[in-house]
Amino acid sequence: MADTIVIFGASGDLTSRKLIPALYSLFAKKRLPVNTRIVGVSRSKFAHEQWRIALRETTEKFSPKLFDAETWDAFSQQVFYQAGDIKAPEDFSALAEFLDQIEDSPADGRLYYLSTMPQLYQEAIHQLGKAGLADDTHGFRRVIIEKPFGTDLTTAHALNHAIHGAFREDQIYRIDHYLGKETVQNIFAMRFGNTIFEPLWNHNFVDHVQITVAEEVVIGRRAGYYDGSGILRDMFQNHILQLLMITAMEPPAKYDAAMVRDEKVKVLHSIRQMTGGDFANHTVRGQYDGYLAEEGVPAGSKTETFAALKLYCDNWRWKNVPFYLRSGKALSCRTTQIVIQFREVPHLLFGDKKRAPLGNRLVIQVQPAEGIQLHFETKVSDAGMKTRTSTLDYRFQDSNQGPMPDAYQRLLLDAVQGDASLFARSDEVELAWGIIDPIIEAWRSPAAPPLYTYEPGFWGPTECTEWMHDQKREWFDVCPVLG
Ligand code: BG6
Repeated sequence: MADTIVIFGASGDLTSRKLIPALYSLFAKKRLPVNTRIVGVSRSKFAHEQWRIALRETTEKFSPKLFDAETWDAFSQQVFYQAGDIKAPEDFSALAEFLDQIEDSPADGRLYYLSTMPQLYQEAIHQLGKAGLADDTHGFRRVIIEKPFGTDLTTAHALNHAIHGAFREDQIYRIDHYLGKETVQNIFAMRFGNTIFEPLWNHNFVDHVQITVAEEVVIGRRAGYYDGSGILRDMFQNHILQLLMITAMEPPAKYDAAMVRDEKVKVLHSIRQMTGGDFANHTVRGQYDGYLAEEGVPAGSKTETFAALKLYCDNWRWKNVPFYLRSGKALSCRTTQIVIQFREVPHLLFGDKKRAPLGNRLVIQVQPAEGIQLHFETKVSDAGMKTRTSTLDYRFQDSNQGPMPDAYQRLLLDAVQGDASLFARSDEVELAWGIIDPIIEAWRSPAAPPLYTYEPGFWGPTECTEWMHDQKREWFDVCPVLG
């Protein structure tokens, strides 16, 4: 018995850049169940062999370190192509026939991956259901849905409703590739595999939390998608809120999909809704200088390429601890970091009284290099009781062999194995939209805070730095602390 992975949107970028290299790596590491078949579906007409040749080239290009000709040849024997149009019911019947032909038995599992244009998700789901392809009487039938999952609460709700017309919730895997990143999962290990952090992980000891996803890249040729989306939809509703949930959640009773997701969802329930002046006082919007000149950006566009939000989780653990979330394109470097800023000592005994006491800080560096850095005060030698901030570094790579796996490897394998812990549930995506939608709406209203222009290559609008200073706090504007 073997399973089949069917990729809709086979000729797209994600398939060649991420999905196939991830599946190939899993195969090479012997992690993919033996004889797992991969079937690409898109409108273009290809023979199986043509698609294999094209994928060989792209896999070698995007994963040169892992590529090995002999392993590829073995892997590609199980790679197939079936032309099909999402809008054509007969193509789904043809696909069903083709799958029956290549599979050994009706008990073989099938994992459908929707990597098409998001506008086609509903139709694809509908057609899968109609063609009997969601029926899991004999073998599992699961579907992975790429982001964006809707563009607001209404569309996400409608999409959930449509999917539930064909698949049960336990068959649905809404992907957020940030959850596949090793360091994000390491937050679970760090928080719930140790006793030393958890007692401090609350409002008694934490002054605030910063979650920054900084990118150096500009939007390039993605204006068609990006200008209608903007940073809140592109990064906050999904990736950044996921990081927030994992940082703020309570320990689940068991590490299983239902319980992990219950705890994450509780965090979203606890987020204080912004009202009135909060939209102006607790948010900062920015657009990089040069955005308007990017190919395809409409003249005078007000789309944000930078945002900072201050959110509160109104619950026992986090009451009144601000969570500062920030992301932007065209910033000084690519780094994703979660900074837990602890409170200052209650009474300063020694040290340079002129220097502002910093408080301890735990920096979880999600990328590029994965690791953790702890900031703490130490004595400067031979200088009385003068102190300085020192660091303890942990690099994930140092204690792990081999290259860090790409996020898609873990997520694809989990979906094949039926573990949905690292995928978003229907209520989770809708609650996340419920947090983001009112901010987008306020930003489109006459009471919107100003849209600041910022110079590429720094940390966003200078007004954002001042905003933090006004709150007597400081952004952790440091490019990767761990190399
Ligand atoms: C995607 C966004 O979901 O995530 C992109 O659409 C963004 O705009 C990307 O660049 C960032 O992912 P990563 O893994 O490079 O941090």
